[in-house]
Amino acid sequence: MPKRFFIQTVGCQMNILDSELVAAQLLGAGHEPADSPQQADAILLNTCSVRQHAEDKIYSALGRLKELKQQRPHTIIGVLGCMAQKDQGQILQRAPYVDLVVGPGQLGRLPDLLADVAAGGGPRIEVSLDRRAGTRQSVQQSFARFQPSRPAKTRAAPHQAMVRAMFGCDKFCTYCIVPRVRGPEQSRPAAEICDEVRRLAGDGCLEVTLLGQTVNSYQDTSGPRTVRLADLLVMLHDVEGLRRLRFVTNYPKHMSDELLQAVRDLPKVSPYLHIPAQSGSSAVLRRMKRGYTAESYREMLARIHAVLPQAAVTSDFIVGFCGETEEEFQETVELVRQSRFKNSFIFKYSARPGTKAAELYVDDIPEAVKRRRNNELLAVQNAICLEDNQPLLGRTVEILVEGPSKVSRKISADGMAAQLVGRTTCDRIVVFDGPAELTGRIISIVIEKVDAFTLFGRRVKQ
Ligand code: 5AD
Ligand code: SF4
Repeated sequence: MPKRFFIQTVGCQMNILDSELVAAQLLGAGHEPADSPQQADAILLNTCSVRQHAEDKIYSALGRLKELKQQRPHTIIGVLGCMAQKDQGQILQRAPYVDLVVGPGQLGRLPDLLADVAAGGGPRIEVSLDRRAGTRQSVQQSFARFQPSRPAKTRAAPHQAMVRAMFGCDKFCTYCIVPRVRGPEQSRPAAEICDEVRRLAGDGCLEVTLLGQTVNSYQDTSGPRTVRLADLLVMLHDVEGLRRLRFVTNYPKHMSDELLQAVRDLPKVSPYLHIPAQSGSSAVLRRMKRGYTAESYREMLARIHAVLPQAAVTSDFIVGFCGETEEEFQETVELVRQSRFKNSFIFKYSARPGTKAAELYVDDIPEAVKRRRNNELLAVQNAICLEDNQPLLGRTVEILVEGPSKVSRKISADGMAAQLVGRTTCDRIVVFDGPAELTGRIISIVIEKVDAFTLFGRRVKQ
């Protein structure tokens, strides 16, 4: 029996991709998308565990669904993704009206699970093995790879697509819950990725973003020769119709010269590198078990600038990690000042039960101090963003037009002129006026105004 489903997603790009794949799979099984939770027969929350705040959001969303469930008891409520894997049965204790708890390694079973629950077989908890509950092989198998084919209409943007290169993570940074909830690192076979990208490009997709928690650790050892990320980029570069190729997220220690040279030599590969530093203090990095020092991170940046002088490097930072002194925080400020990242994503440390940091260290930095450090670092980064955007004034940049801008859906009476938004290969956001049909085209824009986060310009007629 076809059912209408509604998916709400929080969290990272990996989760957005998982939700797209779940939607594709449910459509393939004869279900239909609903426009709102009220119209849905199944409400699926795809969840994130990386910080407490993300979990709080889901538990309050679940609280709001309680009444809906009382009014319409046949509505299936499912909790999917990282929080499902982490909290398992606790979710049913806190919200007994939940019908399904499905971890990221079990998403491929969703159509069957929905059918079982609809037939009265709920509630069901389907999660993968704990990382310490079996051999590597058995744990790996329990995080089943999930990669159904997806038609263009199930993707957020027809001209852009995310493609998974790797599942899971083996780094076990002490603050991070990801290796536990997303399981062991597994690279997809290169041939499978190439097939998917070819299909996407054939479907009109111009830009592909390869995803992995540590995407530059990619290695496919299934064939006679190990394929690393640099080799994969060479293979994908030949795909006809594909115009842009990007990859996130990079692990600093694995930023090899071969990879940098591939980015330099392959014109379709965007010179955009997201390489989280997390801290500028070697002592904090040691407590985080990141496997590098502030000095070696700086050396890596110097290598990048030597090979790719135009590259845009972005980073993530955690402030207020256990025991972070004011001096250690100032080392992070100094790293941000010197490195002139194109952007930094800054997070206040959030203790995650089940991680090494939660076990070994005290979360001893008061919330007010975390907030102050967050704001201070953000102010330094924002000033850099504004300064580094200034030289772009008057320059012509090439963008892929993504569609109407969010800020202003300024459609004129004839429905033709709109404010559109696009991105450069360096991931800079460009806003300009133009007809909506430009969506999905790669065009030139001359920049007339800049602020810290956005470039504003005018289309250059070719
Ligand atoms: N607290 C705060 N931020 C975290 N991140 C990962 N785990 C935590 C945590 N426990 C941040 C890291 C990572 C980004 C995706 O989320 O900076 O790069
Ligand atoms: Fe988490 Fe570290 Fe893996 Fe990134 S590399 S997902 S921060 S454990």
